[in-house]
Amino acid sequence: MPTRRLSIYDAQSLSVGERMREVVITHHGGPDVLEERQRLTPDPASGEVRIRVKACGVNFADVLARMDLFPDAPKPPMVPGYEVSGYVDAIGPGPTRHEMGRHVVALTRFGGYADCVIVPAEFVWGVPQNLSHNEAASIPVNYLTASVALYRMAGLKSGEWVLIHGAGGGVGIAAIQLSRLRRATVVGTASAAKHNALRSLGIDHVIDYRTADVEAEVARITNGRGVDVVLDPLGGENLIKSYRMLAPLGRLVSYGAQDMVGGQHRIVVRSLHTLWQMPRFNPVDLMNDNKGVFGLNLGHLWEERRFLSGAMEALLTDFAGGRLKAVVSKTFPLGRAADAHRFLQDRANVGKVVLTV
Ligand SMILES: NC(=O)c1ccc[n+]([C@@H]2O[C@H](COP(=O)([O-])OP(=O)(O)OC[C@H]3O[C@@H](n4cnc5c(N)ncnc54)[C@H](OP(=O)(O)O)[C@@H]3O)[C@@H](O)[C@H]2O)c1
Repeated sequence: MPTRRLSIYDAQSLSVGERMREVVITHHGGPDVLEERQRLTPDPASGEVRIRVKACGVNFADVLARMDLFPDAPKPPMVPGYEVSGYVDAIGPGPTRHEMGRHVVALTRFGGYADCVIVPAEFVWGVPQNLSHNEAASIPVNYLTASVALYRMAGLKSGEWVLIHGAGGGVGIAAIQLSRLRRATVVGTASAAKHNALRSLGIDHVIDYRTADVEAEVARITNGRGVDVVLDPLGGENLIKSYRMLAPLGRLVSYGAQDMVGGQHRIVVRSLHTLWQMPRFNPVDLMNDNKGVFGLNLGHLWEERRFLSGAMEALLTDFAGGRLKAVVSKTFPLGRAADAHRFLQDRANVGKVVLTV
């Protein structure tokens, strides 16, 4: 796969100073707790690579971390950010497959909201020439999540039906594209303003969950059979509805509790209510219903490096071949990370929100 290398213009920008910029969650709260700071640029250790960041993906998990609704996040002060695109500008001592100046995309598990980040060498991949920095930074979290859910867990087959909740979000659009690659029929839920955009991205049926009874609509569209796979990032009582919409032999993948978040600020009662409403699935019921339920947390697959790397390489091959297309909804400069969070929480995005450096 041909990848892009550093231009003279970019190479000159690498020599600017020893200090790096990063955006810190100073304490838990609303978007205003995000603050830009500077510190000395660190050097990579053996097995690590330093990336000069050009673009960083913003994820809903960053919003949850800021609001103290994401148990996996370190305590503040912490730098959020799970994925970046940029250039390799330092490589730790020892043998490596990486090259200085190569255009790369990386999974970062925190620290991505910065102009420089150090990551394990296994989580750095060359970017196909046909992708911009913003497009590349949109890929890792959304497409890996959708790919693990659909291909690995649910084992989606050609001709099957998929229901994707939050179809207009980053994971939702990745899931639409991956489902279509498998020749599945795609039903999605999204607010009405996003329907036209989703149709142009190839969704077969889209339901406005704010005004329609989603279960009744899915029953109507599938002639009462239900769907083979449901992707559910909502959690709470929605999960039991998702389970009910499965046809026999159906698979449900639960990967979020998005209903915990209502507006820009944390409402403890709402969060507890969502968690309280999460169903406890009983193996006897699963057996009698011939249905399966998976839980997915990409962050907890961090040690499965060979698996994640193989999945990411397969995705990048599909991007290089034009079979997948990253959809960037809006970009914000790094220093306006708070506005990027507001935009995401207002649910204004169709696709990915990206911070540019
Ligand atoms: N477990 C994992 O490994 C994993 C990995 C990645 C993401 N996730 C989770 O998956 C979910 C989607 O991620 P994403 O990156 O696609 O998010 P996103 O880009 O913010 O999109 C989510 C979309 O879902 C819709 N939505 C429905 N109910 C919502 C609610 N209560 N709050 C906010 N949005 C709501 C919104 O569109 P409408 O206008 O249609 O309402 C929104 O645009 C998040 O909960 C995230 O934490 C989990």
